[in-house]
Amino acid sequence: MSGASTTVVVADAAELVVGPATGASDDTEPGEGPLEVLEDAAFAAIDGEVAAVGPTNEVVREYPPENADEAIDASGKAVVPGFVDPHTHAVFAGDRSDEFEARLRGKTYQEILADGGGILRTVQATREASDEELLETLLAHLDVMLARGSTTVEVKSGYGLETETELRLLEVIDRADDEHPVDLVATYLGAHAVPESRDDEEYVDEVVEEHLPAVADQGIAEFCDVFCEEGVFDVEASRRVLEAGTAAGLTPKVHAEEFTRHGGAQLAAEVEAASADHLLYATAEDVEALVDAGTVPVLLPGTAFGLGERYADAREFLEAGAPVALATDFNPNCHARSMAFVQTLSCLEIGTTPAEALLGATRNAALAVDRDDGTGTLREGAPADALVLEVPSYVHVAYRFDTPAIETVIKNGRQVW
Ligand code: NIG
Ligand code: FE
Repeated sequence: MSGASTTVVVADAAELVVGPATGASDDTEPGEGPLEVLEDAAFAAIDGEVAAVGPTNEVVREYPPENADEAIDASGKAVVPGFVDPHTHAVFAGDRSDEFEARLRGKTYQEILADGGGILRTVQATREASDEELLETLLAHLDVMLARGSTTVEVKSGYGLETETELRLLEVIDRADDEHPVDLVATYLGAHAVPESRDDEEYVDEVVEEHLPAVADQGIAEFCDVFCEEGVFDVEASRRVLEAGTAAGLTPKVHAEEFTRHGGAQLAAEVEAASADHLLYATAEDVEALVDAGTVPVLLPGTAFGLGERYADAREFLEAGAPVALATDFNPNCHARSMAFVQTLSCLEIGTTPAEALLGATRNAALAVDRDDGTGTLREGAPADALVLEVPSYVHVAYRFDTPAIETVIKNGRQVW
């Protein structure tokens, strides 16, 4: 038991966030937060998994730091689970900073897209890029995400809008997953926009009849997403895509109610999607439908921040009992790679506490990508993905908004940053 195969022991943490408070609402005292937080605590990881977590004296008795491959003294520091970013469009080529300027001059996101800009411009640049370029760029983004605390990241395709390029993007995601310490979750998003000079119905036929069978054969994507929005895909088209995705073995996800209330949230509930994302214009009925269906609401305050749009209301979801998750939405329109900054926005703009934001960036985010193996927690048996902060309290994650308070990143029991 003295830890022959121990890889890492992190001991003496001033504060260690284990995960969501157990016992849920019934026996949670008023004033208690949603997190289980231990003081003067430690965890030990063996073979990439948390083997023990608890008071430092108990953990180190069983797993002495001197026998560990790596021992981290966390005295005066807080330890939290690694962040999970459950919604990104991180594989793309090209630069759209000029659209940032155009939006400052008053053009809207949808006007830019309708003029062949936005997603369609990124599609053009992405189709022209080589696999190697796409891979190098994605790996560079993942380096930044890891340094900002993300240890699991969902990445969507969606800048190909044709079978060959969509498959290439998924392949690049798969290669990056092999090459980078961050764990990637692949989502097929062929229904991200209607390609230029194509008819939407005919394009949905292509998605259903050509893309999805090929994506299923390729075996990389786990989820199928759709941009259900006015001027993009209506509810009927979105339903066709998601049903065909399910038939191909992919779990549905929906970009819902981002710019208008368009019916995506109700559709997400109907098809029992893993998540419904954005939800800026979701109504009380939408909230209720998502809670009843067990669909995780993923809120993306960075998108609203970058667009100068209204924000989603996290309180409405939290009060209805939803496991609110947060994500960056990193894409060429929302150049945000920091789940720490998203937690700042979550507290300042959508009404969460720092504890609710941290839960949204860890365990609830893991639920949004169907990682129910303890990912996003430091419970026994969970993947040992953890952040050691430079400060004694997790509140600093949201509080420090320019530079993250992260000193060390541990992924699968190994110090990777
Ligand atoms: O989630 N809304 C659709 N997709 C992305 C934006 C992608 C882009 O503009 O390139 C989003 O906001
Ligand atoms: Fe998105």
